[in-house]
Amino acid sequence: MSLDRVLVIIPTYNEAENIEPILDRLHAAVPGASVLVVDDGSPDGTGQLADARAAADARVQVMHRTEKNGLGAAYVAGFGWAREHGFDVVVEMDADGSHAPEQLTRLLAALEGADVVLGSRWVDGGKVVNWPKSRELLSRGGNAYTRIALGLPIRDATGGFRAYRREVLDALPLDDVHSQGYCFQVDLAWQSWRAGYRVAEVPITFVERERGESKMSRQIVLEALWRVTWWGLRSGRSRGRRQPAPVRRP
Ligand code: GDD
Ligand code: MN
Repeated sequence: MSLDRVLVIIPTYNEAENIEPILDRLHAAVPGASVLVVDDGSPDGTGQLADARAAADARVQVMHRTEKNGLGAAYVAGFGWAREHGFDVVVEMDADGSHAPEQLTRLLAALEGADVVLGSRWVDGGKVVNWPKSRELLSRGGNAYTRIALGLPIRDATGGFRAYRREVLDALPLDDVHSQGYCFQVDLAWQSWRAGYRVAEVPITFVERERGESKMSRQIVLEALWRVTWWGLRSGRSRGRRQPAPVRRP
């Protein structure tokens, strides 16, 4: 299957200072990539800035949503659009510069031998720059809990810089994905792995944003905690039953 048509989905909420620089960097690094900005009605005008860019650059499209419904819902909507428009590869990337577009070519190269490629902060060679210790502990702790609760052999299942082959998105039941916050990332990694897809991790350097604010909240952490716990219980791990081997695709 061809991997030529690449769509980068960038979810935005109040990223007015970041959206133009990130589009510039992305197209300098990967000129052929198309972009879908999924804006949840940002009050700071991010959506209008993205519209202006779309009017000037045919590679850029904007999806406007009226309410801030979380990262998960924004991505599900973006994935639907990607499938309708026949892209081969769908990339997730934050708007704030934490995910370096200059490292995207490495993710795309790794997709030659995998179905899903995760940019990983917590494999050898991965790094985080300028994160407060509290945030690093949360990410490391969350990933450790995910590995144990789900038996998921992934170092960074919560990260949001990744590339999917379109077939994966075609196969997963996206309409049934209810994760709203950042646990959406765990949800899709877990579902991809359980369905037998090849999930690879590639080291990235995550640099904390310089402009604007993180949307991380207590609610997002709590949602991740209860959902991961629930998925683990439902899959039977906590009762000592063995995880069924992932079903291999034909
Ligand atoms: N459309 C939309 N709606 N976009 C959103 C929403 C929302 O409700 N919430 C956040 N975003 C966008 C932000 O505008 C940004 O482009 C991206 O999602 C990531 O949000 P940040 O607020 O910058 O996330 P972070 O830096 O705290 O979190 C990072 O770490 C998480 C945990 O590892 C990101 O890499 C996340 O993807 C990751 O899950
Ligand atoms: Mn960020």
